[in-house]
Amino acid sequence: MKAIVYEHSGASDVLSLTDRPVPEPGPGEVRVKVAFSGVNPTDWKSRTNAQPGAGAAQVPNQDGSGVVDAVGPGVDAARVGERVWIWEAAWQRADGTAQEYVVLPARQAVPLPEHASLELGASLGIPAMTAHRALTLAEGGPTRLAPGALAGRTVLVAGGAGAVGNAAIQLARWAGATVLTTVSSPQKARLAEAAGAHHVVDYRAQDAAAVIRALAPEGVDLVVEVAPTANVALDLAVLAPNGTVAFYADGSGPEVTIPVRDSMFRNLRWLGILVYTIPDAAKLAAVAAISDAVAADALRGGEQAGLPWHHYPLARTADAHDAVQAGTVGKVLIDL
Ligand SMILES: NC(=O)c1ccc[n+]([C@@H]2O[C@H](COP(=O)([O-])OP(=O)(O)OC[C@H]3O[C@@H](n4cnc5c(N)ncnc54)[C@H](OP(=O)(O)O)[C@@H]3O)[C@@H](O)[C@H]2O)c1
Repeated sequence: MKAIVYEHSGASDVLSLTDRPVPEPGPGEVRVKVAFSGVNPTDWKSRTNAQPGAGAAQVPNQDGSGVVDAVGPGVDAARVGERVWIWEAAWQRADGTAQEYVVLPARQAVPLPEHASLELGASLGIPAMTAHRALTLAEGGPTRLAPGALAGRTVLVAGGAGAVGNAAIQLARWAGATVLTTVSSPQKARLAEAAGAHHVVDYRAQDAAAVIRALAPEGVDLVVEVAPTANVALDLAVLAPNGTVAFYADGSGPEVTIPVRDSMFRNLRWLGILVYTIPDAAKLAAVAAISDAVAADALRGGEQAGLPWHHYPLARTADAHDAVQAGTVGKVLIDL
């Protein structure tokens, strides 16, 4: 089978196409014939910064989709033929999804309903699980999203045209929240509207704090924050008492200065997220809720849902990584 590997960290030219034997699933594992490998920023960041073990070849990419074609001992043989979405394939493992077949623990290959495309399946993992975590950190819960779980809450999603932002808008809508989002251009505003945001604010063209305050006079209960350093003043200006900022990226800077007294007096909460290391129960709650949202057709992909797909062949995985690093708007997929 064909696989993309790297033996040393570095720029995308460390990636090479190779032939490997098709792997056999062990106890508790399934083998998936991969249809699409989804690329996230974490994939090029890991490739750049994390040295594979000595002599080890690392296959990149956490997310993917495909069809179960073999199961190991202890796994229900009825799973063969099942369409699945894959999460955390390359987390503390050498086998990501940029290969024709991947073997992984059965729970990391989740059934995908018939109506849901394999492209959507490869877009879920990191973005939707991060979004689910962010949306379940508000004061008073919920710990798992479901229809009505966020009823009466106002959520602000920073960067609603991003992959995590898109998933956060869709999941928050499904859960019944009023959803506001910020974007940097009219093109991104159209994508955030397609995702289902009730209100889209162009933070370059508008006074975002004033517009959000007018739209949500009681304040925002929860901010799903991609750029905490850039947006700390905005978030403070729009948060309701007991509000939460759930932040998940450091691209806008490595540190945030939080006014102590203001945060104390309003009981504000600033909570970080790293999707890989959230508690296991939170991961499983995310997987279950994401599956429910997909089954309800409330979590969708592609241009009509605000997340255009960009396809690359396996041999051009390096270009796919570079495209994500360059900030491609939408979801970069590798076709197997
Ligand atoms: N901690 C975790 O577990 C975790 C999980 C997933 C992703 N991440 C990280 O999160 C970041 C985003 O990932 P992604 O896959 O969503 O990437 P993406 O699809 O490229 O989206 C990034 C978005 O960030 C927005 N953005 C940047 N500065 C902003 C600002 N000042 N205000 C509002 N929005 C802003 C951009 O929108 P505009 O151009 O409109 O500003 C863009 O849409 C990456 O750094 C990634 O590594 C972390």
